[in-house]
Amino acid sequence: MSDNRKIAVVTGGAGGIGEALVRKLTEGGWTLAVLDRDADKAIDVAKQYGGFGYGIDIGDAKSIAEAAAYVEEHVGPVSGLACVAAHLENPHRPEAQDFAEWDDIVRVNLTGTFRTMVEFGRGMLKRGHGSIVNVGSITAFNSSPLQAYGPTKAGIINMSRNFAVAWGRNGVRVNTVCPGPTRTPAVEASYARGERSPETMIRTTALGRLVKPIEVANAIAFLLSDEASAITGIELSVDSGVLASQLWSMYGGVPQPVV
Ligand SMILES: NC(=O)c1ccc[n+]([C@@H]2O[C@H](COP(=O)([O-])OP(=O)(O)OC[C@H]3O[C@@H](n4cnc5c(N)ncnc54)[C@H](O)[C@@H]3O)[C@@H](O)[C@H]2O)c1
Repeated sequence: MSDNRKIAVVTGGAGGIGEALVRKLTEGGWTLAVLDRDADKAIDVAKQYGGFGYGIDIGDAKSIAEAAAYVEEHVGPVSGLACVAAHLENPHRPEAQDFAEWDDIVRVNLTGTFRTMVEFGRGMLKRGHGSIVNVGSITAFNSSPLQAYGPTKAGIINMSRNFAVAWGRNGVRVNTVCPGPTRTPAVEASYARGERSPETMIRTTALGRLVKPIEVANAIAFLLSDEASAITGIELSVDSGVLASQLWSMYGGVPQPVV
């Protein structure tokens, strides 16, 4: 008997952008496997949206392989994968890099995303159908004080393009969504601790505001869907126009609205 359900996996599904994505995909008729290192929260989020929640550590090869086998057997054939989980970082100078943290960030963001694609992609390759969206960041495109995080996000773009070409003839699309400053609970907590300033970030946007988690989720859901059936190997930034406005700081910054 064929299984006509659209089944999607979201890693980092207990986080700010991940939870918004789980909601968006559920509304779009997908059945969700919500995976996160915070297993309790993954189960809570999944319960809220009628999906399945599991613990996973994408920094651990065995954990990813077990989760992929479990989901295929107990939830069903996966045709959508969103790799949202990441190890975040605070700004610092390169000479102050903590190398234990460097290793964690590379293991989770780079190796973990690669392995997640390989393990969850196996079934897609066999079935000749699937869509993968990795979450990068606008820090991938230019200099920033996120010394380890930025390079891993740049690596995610390169990996995604590699997979897009390697798997394209098997009917599997691979794209990257690159968020700009997004008001997730984790980022709000960082503002509250004084590690980042929302006002400073807003000044660099064309739109004069930060991104909402659902706006990132909307872009990921589009790329996962058949509406994006000829789109593969691209990067889609969702950044309130931060990248577009970079050179304006040489001319006094982004202009105020015309009255
Ligand atoms: N919020 C922003 O401003 C922003 C900007 C650019 C990119 N991003 C990217 O968006 C994605 C989501 O970020 P967010 O802002 O929602 O952060 P978040 O911290 O709310 O969510 C990240 C989730 O990933 C999970 N996670 C972390 N390490 C994991 C591991 N080893 N295995 C499994 N799960 C793990 C966390 O438990 C958390 O639930 C990340 O890839 C992040 O790099 C966010």
